[in-house]
Amino acid sequence: MSILSGLFSSDMAIDLGTANTLVYVKGRGIILNEPSVVAYHVKDGKKQVLAVGEDAKLMLGRTPGSIEAIRPMRDGVIADFDTAEEMIKHFIRKVHRRTTFSKPKVIVCVPHGATPVEKRAIRQSVLSAGARRAGLIAEPIAAAIGAGMPITDPTGSMVVDIGGGTTEVAVLSLGDIVYARSVRVGGDRMDEAIISYLRRQQNLLVGESTAERIKTTIGSARMPADGRGAIVRIRGRDILNGVPKEIELSQAQVAEALAEPVQQICDAVMQALEATPPDLAADIVDRGVMLTGGGALLGDIDLALREQTGLAISVADQTLSCVALGTGRALEYEKQLRHVIDYDS
Ligand SMILES: Nc1ncnc2c1ncn2[C@@H]1O[C@H](COP(=O)(O)OP(=O)(O)OP(=O)(O)O)[C@@H](O)[C@H]1O
Ligand SMILES: [Mg+2]
Repeated sequence: MSILSGLFSSDMAIDLGTANTLVYVKGRGIILNEPSVVAYHVKDGKKQVLAVGEDAKLMLGRTPGSIEAIRPMRDGVIADFDTAEEMIKHFIRKVHRRTTFSKPKVIVCVPHGATPVEKRAIRQSVLSAGARRAGLIAEPIAAAIGAGMPITDPTGSMVVDIGGGTTEVAVLSLGDIVYARSVRVGGDRMDEAIISYLRRQQNLLVGESTAERIKTTIGSARMPADGRGAIVRIRGRDILNGVPKEIELSQAQVAEALAEPVQQICDAVMQALEATPPDLAADIVDRGVMLTGGGALLGDIDLALREQTGLAISVADQTLSCVALGTGRALEYEKQLRHVIDYDS
């Protein structure tokens, strides 16, 4: 590595998501994007990290007794602190330029509903991973910045981030949160809904990876116009006789399976609208609602939300990396956006 690289900072912004972790390095952009999964080798009660990220995700649901694949984040918060810390350390080391003399400053986004204990735990993990300073930013603010919304203007903006673990609905004005609501419904809940539908209606057992693949290929928030929609063939295990079997699944069936989580997301948006002060609500009628997060890619979720709210709904560009880009922008423009970063609570 050139001697010059020592002059660049490795300050970074991290979107520590339930499903995916992204790392943005100052001056360079997003340089890491991996599933939030850690796989351990377990021997004599001792755990040794075997793989982190993409490689570990491939092992989920497919591990023999000696290997354990863990998702440390559940429902948008840290469910397993030690594993989360392992993962953060691994990713920071992976992107940190060792030629840089100084320890990096790290900004991490946290769900709006994170408790003080959870915030402290994230800060501690980042510091023990070798950061010089650890700042936190609220996820809805990061999402809105990443989606290019004018969050510092005296006007109401509504952003709905549909992640793996949670959906966060927020109304922002003058760079701060006026109203926010976090519901524990997101991509994971949709996968679970597909799993339980198949179990109930088809006597078929499928794992999380299969359910996720069904959702991302033919998942839809509304019934298909032709009544049935696209068809996929899926494999799983027959509950009745225990052997593998293959069935056909239609888009209409998947839409039926997803109806409940989709309705819960719509309800959260309706509640946010009802709780928004009238002048800001008027701004939202003018400007519409911005969707971010991987769940915004669910087929017709924008149409379903438009039907229920009557508002214009847009899906952010690069919806899966919006939060990381917004957190990164807060790092790049720290002077202007200083008030959205919290260094010491
Ligand atoms: N095309 C798609 N259709 C539906 N869902 C999708 C699609 N692509 C990705 N997803 C889902 O998006 C979710 C991941 O989104 P994202 O990376 O925004 O979550 P996260 O930031 O890790 O989670 P959180 O913000 O809740 O902590 C996963 O549940 C994934 O299955
Ligand atoms: Mg997220």
